[in-house]
Amino acid sequence: MTRKKILITGGAGFIGGNFVKYMVKKYPNYDIYNLDLLTYAGDLTKHRDIETNENYHFIKADIADRDTINPLFEKEKFDYVVHFAAESHVDRSITEPGIFVKTNVLGTQVLLDAAKEINVSKFIHVSTDEVYGELDFDPTTFFTEETPLQPNSPYSASKASSDLLVRAYHETFGLPVNITRCSNNYGPYHFPEKLIPLTISRVLNDQKVPVYGDGKNIRDWLHVYDHCAAIDLVLHEGLNGEVYNVGGHNERTNLEVVKTIIKTLGKSEDLIEFVKDRPGHDKRYAIDPTKLEKLGWKPTYTFETGIAQTIQWYLDNKEWWEQIISGEYRNYFEKQYDI
Ligand code: NAD
Ligand code: TYD
Repeated sequence: MTRKKILITGGAGFIGGNFVKYMVKKYPNYDIYNLDLLTYAGDLTKHRDIETNENYHFIKADIADRDTINPLFEKEKFDYVVHFAAESHVDRSITEPGIFVKTNVLGTQVLLDAAKEINVSKFIHVSTDEVYGELDFDPTTFFTEETPLQPNSPYSASKASSDLLVRAYHETFGLPVNITRCSNNYGPYHFPEKLIPLTISRVLNDQKVPVYGDGKNIRDWLHVYDHCAAIDLVLHEGLNGEVYNVGGHNERTNLEVVKTIIKTLGKSEDLIEFVKDRPGHDKRYAIDPTKLEKLGWKPTYTFETGIAQTIQWYLDNKEWWEQIISGEYRNYFEKQYDI
């Protein structure tokens, strides 16, 4: 296999971090460049196991900083770009939308321009099912790649905007792109502001778990390892210009998720605290992954096996999430929740 240079943006975050590890280990003959600004969500301690590998390189940079990105692309002549870097938390986008536009929209456009200038062979844009808006509770309805974009939060609106720019760079300039739209990920190294790691870490500390509204909103859970395999497949086999939805039919209400974690950890459901609902809270997400399955992808985790693996990982890696929960994150949590 020929040697390739791959730029992975956001590789110090949750999904990008798992993807960096996956690629460094699976493709020793690829040079993996992890570019990340190291915002509150970025953490390099997760890469201690690979940081001395010859095929791993780290670059601290802002994707929205054209003066850094353009010369970097000119110098390194990347073959592929896999773009994860983003502001990713819906709740933060409600209190501070501006940074979502800067990073997710402008940052993506800066990368597209740089990729176009050096004629990359593939630009993968990692997006989200949240761009499709929400579904009602009819279990026979799903998001397909043809579902119209109807984002409801500043986060999903910024992701939808970046998706449209990626599409336009394909249509206008012939840039070889794919857009992947996945459902909610979970698994190792998930930042504890999101529902599953937040619940695991708080239940382990016997702290109350905030459940928004009545807890009946539904998310379609995808193990991050299955997501990494999907992106690998799209990178190597995806047809240029195509969108691929990624999801494994694992719909659960938020309350079911929280109760499963509490039960597995042998704690009491008294820890559940219903709190004020999120404004514009999407009711349900559910992915139809048929198109990606036809390309050859199949998830290996069910929700049951995935959540068991994830809870065990958090039990085995307390040090990692305890250091994350200190500092800036603690201030954020105190401002966000009154519990
Ligand atoms: P994350 O918040 O854990 O990580 C984001 C990473 O991007 C961090 O390391 C951060 O430091 C970096 N970053 C932020 N701004 C940057 C900038 N201006 N320049 C360079 N780096 C910057 O996010 P995640 O959960 O790993 O999500 C990764 C991607 O997947 C995002 O694009 C997100 O929209 C998408 N996605 C996530 C989920 C999910 O369930 N987590 C679901 C669907 C789609
Ligand atoms: P989250 O993990 O923030 O992902 P997203 O908003 O991108 O789906 O939230 C998942 C679901 O859990 C969502 O319906 C909101 C809900 N939620 C809570 O009930 N309590 C919480 O403390 C958080 C963070 C989320």
